[in-house]
Amino acid sequence: MRFFLDTALLAEIEEAAALGVLDGVTTNPSLMAKAGVQDFDAHYKAIAALTPGPVSAEVISTTYADMLVEARHLHSLAPNIVVKIPFIPDGVKALRTLKEEGIPTNCTLIFSPLQALIAAKAGATYVSPFLGRLDDIGHEGIELIRQIRQIFDNYGFGTQILAASLRHPYHVLLCALEGADVATMPYSVLKQLFPHPLTEKGLAQFLADYQKLHARP
Ligand code: G3P
Repeated sequence: MRFFLDTALLAEIEEAAALGVLDGVTTNPSLMAKAGVQDFDAHYKAIAALTPGPVSAEVISTTYADMLVEARHLHSLAPNIVVKIPFIPDGVKALRTLKEEGIPTNCTLIFSPLQALIAAKAGATYVSPFLGRLDDIGHEGIELIRQIRQIFDNYGFGTQILAASLRHPYHVLLCALEGADVATMPYSVLKQLFPHPLTEKGLAQFLADYQKLHARP
């Protein structure tokens, strides 16, 4: 399972990359705004230079023709940029054309398994089902991952499941158990995957025992 960071903050990406477990980055217009980005092109280039993995950059356009122009431009910024396309009819049309042009895509705002099926049929490289936002409205978000996994396996779709809107480590665990190809998460969640009280306690004990053995008389 690959780990992507869901952020537009360069410092977070640098720190996660230094941990050695970062496989890519996802952004969206809200994350770019939160990071105070003014020059989107320069910022996407900067992110793409921090990781060799895929970097999702989302289109702002909502018509087929405009999305294609924007997608080609975004992908021209760096070879590892994946174009994020919203799941709307014009977006689905754009997925097919971009696939034919060899531009990788991430179909975002997926909330039903049939949306994911359509995006896969249209040739999306990734689909991004949003778990946390489904949980927020009283649904069981992980069920969406389970159903998409089954559908993709039933028909041999190569489209990858990029589980998004993950809010805590348990979401990451559930996604791993259900076979999501990628989990994208905020840096705060990635950091939460590391500590365990028994790891810390065990290490303290090992070090204390070593010190006792080597203590000068
Ligand atoms: O990048 C898409 C997704 O991860 C957004 O998450 O927390 O805004 O629902 P969230």
